[in-house]
Amino acid sequence: MLKNIFRGLMIAALLFVVACTYQNRVQLTLVAAPITPKQQFDLPPLPISDREQWSQSRENLRQILEQNVYGEIPDKGSAALIKITRIDTNTLTEPAIAEQWQIKLQADGIAREFLAVLVLPQSETPVPLVLIQNFCGLEASVPQLTLTPLETTSRLCTDSSAFVNGIHLYVFGRYAAAPPLDMILAEGYGILIFNSGDFIKDKAAFAPRQMDAFFPASRQGKNPIGTIGAWAFASMRMMDLLEQDERIRADKVFTYGHSRQGKSALVAAAFDSRFAGSIAHQSGTGGAALNRSHNGESIASITKTYPHWFTPAYANLPEQDPANFDQHFLIAMLAPRALMLGNARRDVWSDPVSTFRAAEAASPVWELFGRQGMRAKNLGDYQPSAHIAFWMRPGTHGQVKEDWPAFLQFLTAHK
Ligand code: GCU
Repeated sequence: MLKNIFRGLMIAALLFVVACTYQNRVQLTLVAAPITPKQQFDLPPLPISDREQWSQSRENLRQILEQNVYGEIPDKGSAALIKITRIDTNTLTEPAIAEQWQIKLQADGIAREFLAVLVLPQSETPVPLVLIQNFCGLEASVPQLTLTPLETTSRLCTDSSAFVNGIHLYVFGRYAAAPPLDMILAEGYGILIFNSGDFIKDKAAFAPRQMDAFFPASRQGKNPIGTIGAWAFASMRMMDLLEQDERIRADKVFTYGHSRQGKSALVAAAFDSRFAGSIAHQSGTGGAALNRSHNGESIASITKTYPHWFTPAYANLPEQDPANFDQHFLIAMLAPRALMLGNARRDVWSDPVSTFRAAEAASPVWELFGRQGMRAKNLGDYQPSAHIAFWMRPGTHGQVKEDWPAFLQFLTAHK
């Protein structure tokens, strides 16, 4: 009895600390995004006229976004598989093969190495794949498998006690640390998963130095790259490796990320047309939400808290009198491929309404290719087979029970 009271008090104290830390977010979480959005935004038109000019237009969109938001992301680099270690898959329900990949990436500076895990359903023919960017450390990302991590692999999430991990999963959902591997394999998809912080740390105190050494040209140039772009670069280079693997359908590789990872999963797929599409879940500000929106996280707030994520110019982007571009330019770059935008009603911080408006504004580009972009009439109208599928569930920020089944509906529809 006393133990339970103590436990209750501890949870209350912890939630209080979390609530205070994220004061703005908690206030916003008490508000729910409307299903039928009333808010309109005066958006700059997409500078796109016809299909013939598309690749030039896409290049222009890329330049605008690099200059104002992400910094210059090198187009090329090298990716090498230094070591492949077979992983036992007896612990999985689905028949599968798994490998630990030690990857070495290089742009124009000093190379960096990190680990990723590949899991493929057993199949005679090449399989589609989701390239998953995670933040919880590799071991926590595939808890069913036994890895032999490098010293450098961060163990975020698993470093904490079971109690703290329990709270983390309670607050951010059952898939907050690890995707449902068996469910994904059962749909015929493989995964390649990595912890973006193993490549460039998600810390303002370390990331700049790591990026200076890895991307010297970009970092010394006019538009220095931030970590969102750096992680996207890593995904693109991992695509170089996937393209060479005959077990994988290179034309069916989707990027996936949640929140900060959702931002960079979206950038990777937008900038690199080899990806079949993307699932950007609750990507918010600097992702699929509009810069000129006053709902949720502001540019001032995100660039103050996470100065390493973007190119410095982003902090100066006027929100009151915004520039002649917005994040619908980023979404448009994915046309005519498949995009899923995940949202939750009480995650107003990541701004579902302006995300919906951005998707709507980008949709005409799909029409240039004879496809429909977003067909949803309101935020609750989930159509997994649409080329822009807008997913909205009840609840708050996180990767919860309902999310992955919905993601898999989208992946199955676009297989
Ligand atoms: C913070 C940040 C968001 C980000 C989120 C996350 O809330 O403000 O922009 O998306 O962290 O990555 O979970």
